[in-house]
Amino acid sequence: MGHQIESILRENRSFPPSAAFRARARISDPAEYERLYRESLEQPEVFWGRVARELPWLKPFERVLDWSAKPFAKWFVGGRTNASYVCLDQHLTTHRRDKFALVWEGEPGEVVRYTYAELHAAVCRYANVLKARGVKKGERVALYMPMIPELVIAVLACARIGAVHSVIFGGFSAQSIRDRVEDGGCTAVITADGGWRRGKVLPLKPVVDEALAGLAGVHTVFVVRRGGNLIEWKDGRDVWLDELAAQASPECPPEPMDSEDTLFLLYTSGSTGKPKGIRHTTGGYLVGAYLSARFVFDLRDDDLYWCTADVGWVTGHSYVIYGPLANGASVLLYEGAPNTPHPGRFWELVAKHKVSVLYTAPTAIRSFMRWGDEHVTRFDRSSLRLLGTVGEPINPEAWMWYREVVGESRCPIVDTWWQTETGSIQITPLPGITAAKPGSATRPFFGVDAAVVDEHGNEVGVNQGGYLVLRKPWPAMLRGIHGDDARYVETYWSKFGGRYYFTGDGARKDQDGCFWIMGRVDDVLNVAGHRLSTMEIESALVSHAAVVEAAVVGRPDEISGEALCAFVTIGPGHSASPALAELLKEHVAKEIGKLARPAEVRFAEALPKTRSGKIMRRLLRDIAAGREVRQDTSTLEDFSVLARLRGDEE
Ligand code: WTA
Repeated sequence: MGHQIESILRENRSFPPSAAFRARARISDPAEYERLYRESLEQPEVFWGRVARELPWLKPFERVLDWSAKPFAKWFVGGRTNASYVCLDQHLTTHRRDKFALVWEGEPGEVVRYTYAELHAAVCRYANVLKARGVKKGERVALYMPMIPELVIAVLACARIGAVHSVIFGGFSAQSIRDRVEDGGCTAVITADGGWRRGKVLPLKPVVDEALAGLAGVHTVFVVRRGGNLIEWKDGRDVWLDELAAQASPECPPEPMDSEDTLFLLYTSGSTGKPKGIRHTTGGYLVGAYLSARFVFDLRDDDLYWCTADVGWVTGHSYVIYGPLANGASVLLYEGAPNTPHPGRFWELVAKHKVSVLYTAPTAIRSFMRWGDEHVTRFDRSSLRLLGTVGEPINPEAWMWYREVVGESRCPIVDTWWQTETGSIQITPLPGITAAKPGSATRPFFGVDAAVVDEHGNEVGVNQGGYLVLRKPWPAMLRGIHGDDARYVETYWSKFGGRYYFTGDGARKDQDGCFWIMGRVDDVLNVAGHRLSTMEIESALVSHAAVVEAAVVGRPDEISGEALCAFVTIGPGHSASPALAELLKEHVAKEIGKLARPAEVRFAEALPKTRSGKIMRRLLRDIAAGREVRQDTSTLEDFSVLARLRGDEE
């Protein structure tokens, strides 16, 4: 890590919010915004104290922040509340009681709706079943479920009784479940027989059985009926959750949780080492999720809000469940794949349910681009008013397509940067305020003190690349890694001597104070002494009409240190050829300079991705270098992709 990361991408388009959007936005007056933003940085305790008091507390907090044991923060010290109380009970005495909290559509097309009152009753029933089976406050419960309302209900039921939920994405293997159950010390598991995915029932309970084989410590496996697939039954351990819930009481008082009691663990895999159980607590997390959902998604009572993320990821925690429900929003939940039974499925759902706010990921956006505009445009999208993206840097090409084709140039786009660790959105446009720029997450959210620094922690100049750090604690920040305080300090706080939270991402800040995220610093390339961000070169490749998706990695090169190897997938109507490879190399040289000209372009049918849609560049590095893939592949979504890239027989 010698010198700075060079930034070579320049994108000058800018899209201020339209007058029509601003007229109804939650916040649209620049002076008010500036005042609030300044207050949030200069007097964070005043700002956050006021926001926190907008939520219901079972016992008021005495102090907003205790940062004396840095980097271990305490927010809303002495306060007691309950996450399910914040998401449900507070709405029962308002007009929202009979408003839809959840609108769910299964992959086969059935629709189920829950009002806030119904969701409250369903959560209480589950909570009573968990209690009756001996699940106690502080116990960890693993959830391995499809995207069905029962998943949301189970999450909130855990919260209601003070049990810590650890949601494991429904695509993980038995071994991954086992590792997470063991690491978290989980004593119960909630699962379903199976769920619908790509036109078939994907078994879940059998995977849990395999994961738990020979493992002591789990006293109960709660099973929800969904897939109707045959499953084995372990008497004494397994119970049907839906049957027991039907007989349980629809009232269950919320457990008064200390603001700093753990709400959930969520495992995230770094590029090395075992997955980290990121620990989030109650009060601060809720305040962060609540405020960001409110302002970033501009939530109003007449919205139907759809975040397409699976609840197995942090986005599903903060922006399917906690943030929107704390705001009393109506949330759409969809079980299945975006292209089942046809590539227009998402847009069909938007039209059918009249979705007004849509939050999805660049990887999905690029897939829709590849599948063709006609699958989008044949459905009515006039209900949409705001679009969001998260998970990876979005290349300007995809951003413009999202804006023009999906949003008909009418909807603002919020490109939101954050992490499992940050709990809530940290860098983002505010849709009624910020002039959005394609590819930039723009400005820090309230209370976020973000900076781009060099190796020594000094801020770099305008448009210079560097490390993205956060310099102040924020309410929804992780409180640690489960069972490993030392790793928490080492991973996030040691790089800059304990002064700043290190995000692991590279970024630059432009002349307007907008942040451009350049991806993980582990992925930075070193070509002839220049440190380049993969994301910028990929973005240049994707700006060529033939290219749908690209991943650039370095392979060892005697002369330049690293030579650039680009893996690209191409769109319909184009064919892979040496001539196209040459054209693409020239295209990059022209767009960003000879320095970034790939030494090699390889065509691929698909790129290896994690199950949350991030490209796994570390696997590509091995392939580019002709090495055996020695990396941990447990998070790879589709193993055949790897085999095809290596040229193996399938
Ligand atoms: C990347 C997902 C650029 C980034 C909420 C971060 C992004 C990691 C963006 C966290 C964005 C997320 N622009 N990069 N808008 N959003 N990232 O923990 O590298 O799954 O550090 O949380 O995703 O991923 P995680």
